[in-house]
Amino acid sequence: MVPQWIIEKKRDGQALSPEELKYFIEGYTRGDIPDYQMAAMAMAIYFQGMTLDETATLTELMMNSGDLVDTSSIEAPKVDKHSTGGVGDKVSLLLAPLMACCGAAVPMISGRGLGITGGTLDKMESIPGYRVDLSDSEFVNVIQACGCSMIGQTGQLAPADKKLYALRDVTGTVPSIPLITASIMSKKLAEGIDGLVMDVKWGKGAFMKTYEDAQELARTIVHVGTRMNKGMAALITDMNQPLGRAAGNSVEVIESVQALQGNGAPDLMEVTLALCAQMLLLAKLADSKEDAMTQLQKQIDSGAAFERFKQMVELQGGDPKALDDFSRLPTASIQEAYPAPRGGTVTAVSAEAIGRAVVLLGGGRAKTDDQVDHAVGITGLCKVGDPVEADAPLCTLHASDQGKLAEARALLDEAFTVSDEDVTPEPLIKEVIIPE
Ligand code: URA
Repeated sequence: MVPQWIIEKKRDGQALSPEELKYFIEGYTRGDIPDYQMAAMAMAIYFQGMTLDETATLTELMMNSGDLVDTSSIEAPKVDKHSTGGVGDKVSLLLAPLMACCGAAVPMISGRGLGITGGTLDKMESIPGYRVDLSDSEFVNVIQACGCSMIGQTGQLAPADKKLYALRDVTGTVPSIPLITASIMSKKLAEGIDGLVMDVKWGKGAFMKTYEDAQELARTIVHVGTRMNKGMAALITDMNQPLGRAAGNSVEVIESVQALQGNGAPDLMEVTLALCAQMLLLAKLADSKEDAMTQLQKQIDSGAAFERFKQMVELQGGDPKALDDFSRLPTASIQEAYPAPRGGTVTAVSAEAIGRAVVLLGGGRAKTDDQVDHAVGITGLCKVGDPVEADAPLCTLHASDQGKLAEARALLDEAFTVSDEDVTPEPLIKEVIIPE
């Protein structure tokens, strides 16, 4: 086969055969097909799209480009959740221990923050000592011991995605539904799971800016996972405003602990419990949504979910005392309230502007290899519909230096809208998509 003929075929809008895709992906992973040809192929896919058959084949090839985690020794049903990314999205920190307490096993391989979206690994690494780089056998041992583990992608897991994602990042080819589907699903299916629930975010702070794109991505992912014999469901959830009341790293760990102790923000709890309920249904650990909700609430009320989170942290080398005594977590030297310019009702909180402000404070990264400052972030975020008085805080900024604080503050001027109008917030969970 000749690489440029395959690129031309996709450029002209034709579907590629499984053999052509195999030749391209395997050749690229080995290094026989250079970046410039893969970049041209990614751009052709970006413009011409792919059929569901092509997307499923691409996913399978990328999953099989590296090792598959052997979770066969784990007897409990293995289920995971993946979010397409947002601002203040700390759901994984609550969901993994909650699911473990209900009898599931959660082998969670997570990512770092990129752009304005936060990443689970960065949040977990704010806990002193916590290791995200476990070997496969350490990963399985932690799951055997406490029912859940949260680690990073190893070099051997879906290496085709690792290479292709880095290339897409610098060639303007990230927002393509078949490429996003294959990227996410190749990594998730390599974890050795029986079922997956997707949290597809839509809105200003998400990859998918329109509801229609979010729907198409959710349907494509559910279709591909189902074809690969996995239990699948996807929720489409709102990311026009941040989730919960904190955005950053250690500040989100603190909010997660408070939520596990029964003091979670209503929106954070609604999304977390809805995702958990779908996972319990997929894992056949609940008979109905009501049964799932009762089980989950019991794990929070009894303190079991919080204890399980502490156990997982300790098993992965982290300091569990930091979860009882927050002064042991990274803390920013400057904390300053951001006052409301006038009294009224908060009618909009831009997830995008809040996400950018966190990046400016040093809590996110502009490039994959940037270091993050775990201590900085934003807390006490007002939500759409909240009443505020003039000069009362709309949020509190946590910064490590005055220069970054000033830059982030300037961005907040466009983050909040306060007016005299009444407002009805967007429904948080717009749709649940299950296999047809
Ligand atoms: N997350 C991924 O892992 N891959 C994408 O392509 C987009 C989001």
